[in-house]
Formats: sequence, structure tokens, C-alpha cells
Amino acid sequence: MIEKPHIFFFVLLIAASIIFGVYLKKNNPQSHISAHQKPASQPNSPHGTDPTIALYAKNCAGCHGAVGQGMDGNPSLQNIQLDKAEIMKTIRNGRNKMKPFPKLTDQDISQLADLISRF
Ligand code: HEC
Repeated sequence: MIEKPHIFFFVLLIAASIIFGVYLKKNNPQSHISAHQKPASQPNSPHGTDPTIALYAKNCAGCHGAVGQGMDGNPSLQNIQLDKAEIMKTIRNGRNKMKPFPKLTDQDISQLADLISRF
């Protein structure tokens, strides 16, 4: 009789962690982004959950399109003639209507430049 309440609470604790775990998984923003990104399909990129894609989606896709196809008068990024250093400079300093991105780190910008080169 003394043992039983302990077992009951132990089982309850396990059940609660399983339910909580499922809840967390459902609400995980990362899994939402990857689920959202896949249909937009990066044909040249095997990295469906690449954080750089999330960075691109947040900062760049609004002007350049989900796969860099260009839109609303903003140029396509699919056939860029610039080298990596020039791409990084454009992102860091902006150019004409494109504003600079002072909040992005050098690493972010470097990875964005690599991503764009794969579009
Ligand atoms: C406000 C809209 C806007 C946003 C946001 C934006 N761009 Fe641009 N981007 C432009 C425009 C407009 C140009 C053309 C600039 C010019 O005419 O000199 C451009 C040019 C570029 C170029 C040069 C293309 C070429 O062939 O010369 C690159 C690379 C680029 N953008 C990358 C990015 C990246 C990466 C991001 C996100 C970090 C981004 N852009 C965000 C509007 C935008």
C-alpha cells in the first residue's frame, strides 16, 4: 500500500512529460519554418532547415522573392554577375533602394552570399 501512490505519481509525471513534449514539438517555430520553407522549395539547396534560409526569408524574400526570382522591380538574384565580396558588400552597405543590413553579422552575410549563389 505504501508503494502505490509513488507509482501513481511516477506514471503521471511520465504522461505529463510526453504530453508536454508533443506540445513543444507542435509549437516549435523552427519546425514551422522548415515546414513552411519546403513548399517554396529551394531546388538547388538540400538544406530545408538551413537557418540561413530563415534569415533570407525574413530579410530579403520580401523584395527579392522566396527563391531570389526578383519581384516588384527588385532584381532577380538567380544570375548575379557579382563575386562573393561584392555580394557581401551590397548586403552590408545596401545599394540605391536596397537598405543596408547593419544588424547582420559577417558570418550571416557570408552565408547569405553563399545561399544566393546557389539560387
Ligand atoms: C527593400 C527591398 C530590398 C531588400 C529588403 C533587399 N534587397 Fe537586395 N536589392 C534590392 C534592390 C532594389 C537592388 C538593386 C539595387 C540597385 O539598383 O543598385 C538589390 C540588389 C541586391 C543585390 C545585387 C544584385 C546584382 O545583381 O547586382 C544583391 C546580391 C542583393 N540585393 C541581396 C540581398 C540580400 C541578401 C538581402 C537580404 C539580406 C536583400 N538583398 C534585401 C532591394 C532589396
